This record gives sequence, structure tokens and C-alpha cells, in this order.
Amino acid sequence: MTRRAVVVGVGHYLPERIVPNSEFEKTLDTSDEWIRARSGIERRHFAAEGETTSNMATDAAKAALADAELAPGDIDAIILATSTADLTFPSAATMVQAELGMTSGFAFDVQAVCAGFAYALANANALILSGQANRVLVIGAETFSRIMDWTDRATCVLFGDGAGALVLEGQEGQGTSDDRGILSTDLNSDGRYKDLLYADGGVSTKTTGYVRMQGNQVFRHAVEKLASTAHAALEKAGLTADDVDWIVPHQANIRIISGTAKKMGLPMEKVVVTVQDHGNTSAASIPLALSVGKERGQIKPGDLLVTEAIGGGLAWGAVVLRW
Ligand code: UT7
Repeated sequence: MTRRAVVVGVGHYLPERIVPNSEFEKTLDTSDEWIRARSGIERRHFAAEGETTSNMATDAAKAALADAELAPGDIDAIILATSTADLTFPSAATMVQAELGMTSGFAFDVQAVCAGFAYALANANALILSGQANRVLVIGAETFSRIMDWTDRATCVLFGDGAGALVLEGQEGQGTSDDRGILSTDLNSDGRYKDLLYADGGVSTKTTGYVRMQGNQVFRHAVEKLASTAHAALEKAGLTADDVDWIVPHQANIRIISGTAKKMGLPMEKVVVTVQDHGNTSAASIPLALSVGKERGQIKPGDLLVTEAIGGGLAWGAVVLRW
């Protein structure tokens, strides 16, 4: 028997306000055509004034708990992947814990920018396999609209806000790749590339800063590193790309998503794509895609999924799981 971290619930939250590409044409030298052609993005959601990352994370968590038919008291730990927490401290995860009325267990944030959800899943898996926790709420939530430079057309048209959540539960498997749950994880970072994508502020510089990105440089790293981490994770699980039912990628750019699928030898029919509706929601993009993919009837119990993401750091990783 082998312990596995199995998905028993999923949910998401998107802010009410939807902003189409055409909105940016009013203030910037850009066009709906350019944004669609270069990124695949058509619209994105932006949080309302006063709406925070922990608010959105709490709503996504409630949806995932309802899907799992569990109460907050059934949860041992919360891991929240975000780079846009409400406050410098405490963690947004502890705010979610309080909002849910959960008075036991523990909660913390993980900060690996767009790769944050892969890092959070790997941490949750390790907690479950070690026996530290049995049910873990894993959330990705971001309000990147708060760190956009609205005069920088190369970044501000790309990002959106939102949150997604999974409930993972420790269950006994057979120790084979037919088991449900997380089958392997692969995490990487290389700080030599920190200048390619960063926020030019932070606590020790006394500012919040704005997102700065050398998009075409990140793009070049993305396809190669995403295909390679996905392959590494599949190999660790004793599987190949032929076994994959769904790639659930980080949703930054349709050209990166399709380039990675092609490099893996998989058709776009096997990829969950939400970038057109959400834009790049950083750590929230994978759980959002998982939740929407399930709602659409794409992801079904028993399907083999590979998730992959890359972002600031650079940090990147992949998780193979059977739904
Ligand atoms: O989630 C974290 C990881 N992030 C990513 O994965 C993002 C990776 N990068 C990308 O998605 C793409 O590089 C972008 C969508 C950001 C840009 O696409 P690109 O094909 O790499 O374009 P580029 O940066 O090479 O820019 C091409 C041209 C430039 O003009 P010149 O120098 O050729 O005259 C830009 O100034 O497009 C210009 N440009 C724009 N034009 C209209 C940049 N942004 C815009 C814009 N509207 N919004």
C-alpha cells in the first residue's frame, strides 16, 4: 500500500468585473487584435476595489469544500500560493483560515509566482505523505491588477485576478501509476534569470512595485523548460506523454501552451485552455483551469493530468496526478 494525496474537491472564484481587450485601446497604443494574436487573451477579470486575495481565496476554498462535501474543521492545513497577499504579514493563508472559521491545523503562503501552484501541490503532497496532515486545502489566488503599471502595454494587458482551490486527502493506493492522486512532482528554479520577470518593489525597498517583464526572453525559456519539467515528472511516475489525458498548463500565453503541447507530442484536444477568458492569473491559473475543466466536462475521474507552470525566478515545475 502507498499513501497518495488524492483530489476530493475543486472550486474557483472569479471577480465580477470582466474587462475585454478593447478597454485597453482607450488608453494605450495597443489593439484587441495584437493582444489576441500574441497571447490568446480576449478578456480577464479584475477584483473590485477593496476585494483582496484572501477574499477570493476564501470563496474558492468554500467552493472546493462544498464539492468535497467537507467542513472547514475537517481540514488539517491550508497552503495558499500567491505573490499578492493582502498584507506583508500575516500570511493570506491564515486570513483564509480565520474566514473559514477553522481554529485548528496550520496555514501558510507559498511564493513562487506563476509556478506557485505546482510548488504548493508538491508541499501538500509532502505533508500528506509524511503524515503531518491528512486533508490539505491547496489554493492559488492573485490580485495582479494591483501590481500593474497601467502605462506599460507589454505587461498590463496580460494579467488578471482570480482564485482556485483543491482539497487533497490522504488515501491508500496500490503504489502503481493507476492510483488516483499525485503520482510525481518536479520543481526547479534558477535565480540567474531573476531580471527577466520581477516586481520592482518590495518590503525592504518600502514600495509595492510593478511587474516588469522581458516577455520575449521569458517566452524562449518557457516552452523548453515546461516540456522538460513535464517529461521529468512523467518519467518519475513511470509514464510517458502517451499516457496523458489532459495537460492543464499555466495559462500565460496560448502560443506557449500550444508550443509546449507540440514539444510533448500531444494535440491541443488534450489541453485545458482558459487563457482567453482569464488572462494570466499567475498562481491561480492552474486551479482555475482544473475547476473550469471539470465544470466543462473535460476532466473526469481516473484521467491522467500533467500540470506545468513557469514564472518569475525563474521558477518552474510540473505535477502528474490522476484525477
Ligand atoms: O506567467 C509568467 C510567465 N510569463 C510568460 O509566460 C509571458 C511570456 N511572454 C509572452 O507571453 C510574450 O512574449 C508576450 C505576449 C509578452 C509578447 O509577445 P512577443 O511576440 O514576444 O512580442 P515582443 O515582446 O517581442 O514584442 C513585439 C512588438 C514590440 O514592438 P517592436 O519592438 O517590434 O516595434 C513591442 O513593443 O510588440 C510590441 N508590443 C505591443 N504592441 C501592441 C508589446 N506589447 C504590445 C501591446 N500592444 N500590448
